[in-house]
Amino acid sequence: MNIILLGPPGAGKGTQAQRLVDKHGMRQLSTGDMLRAAVKAETPVGLEAKAVMERGELVSDAIVSALIGEELDAMGPDVGAIFDGYPRTAAQAEALDAILSGRGRHLDHVIELEVDEDALVERVTGRFTCANCGKGYHDTFEQPKALGVCDKCGGTEFKRRPDDNEATVRTRMAEYRAKTAPILPIYDSRGVVTRVNGMAEMDHVTAAIERVLAV
Ligand code: AP5
Repeated sequence: MNIILLGPPGAGKGTQAQRLVDKHGMRQLSTGDMLRAAVKAETPVGLEAKAVMERGELVSDAIVSALIGEELDAMGPDVGAIFDGYPRTAAQAEALDAILSGRGRHLDHVIELEVDEDALVERVTGRFTCANCGKGYHDTFEQPKALGVCDKCGGTEFKRRPDDNEATVRTRMAEYRAKTAPILPIYDSRGVVTRVNGMAEMDHVTAAIERVLAV
């Protein structure tokens, strides 16, 4: 199965993708994670992307679509893909069609996480992850069970993203409204979109997504 999780920054795409990976053994293809890895490794892509990401703007379509193609090629053909943060523009949506069909895959579902933008700044600025395994947490909504110790791997170091400050989040939200929300009608016209209330409790959001996948 191949699915897209769509929603503005902080909608819960990464949180829900991790849960699908854990439960179904699918693979999360997060262009944000791929770009952050490239920035950390100081690859040519990373050097080009760093300043763009810090401003909260979008990295070029060609770069992210190439990253997605490479990741899919590295996966087994039977492993399901969760596209998290991709596609984000009409050009990326078109590229994804070609990427999937060229690999004998097709798109099963687009799940749009509907959220109240006012809540997103708090969600994003309060977020942190385990530096070892990447499990996500939140200052208010999801603290580790034992203070300072990762529930998943026992790690004790945590990190925050440099673009998770209020000014950059607002630019990212504006980019979503201007460039990403307009691609939804493309998928609506194919009848593959389901809208899920992303403001519900995390477990309820997960249950709603599971109902979509069971159809
Ligand atoms: P990316 O890493 O994709 O960031 P984003 O889309 O802004 O999304 P986030 O990761 O911020 O949010 P999320 O929806 O995953 O929320 P999360 O689950 O963590 O992209 C970063 C940058 O890379 C972009 O700005 C751009 O520069 C570049 N880029 C990436 N892809 C690109 C592309 N395709 N094209 C061009 N450029 C690209 O949840 C947030 C917090 O809320 C967490 O702490 C979580 O615990 C909490 N939370 C989640 N769900 C709930 C809930 N139901 N209730 C309460 N709290 C919740």
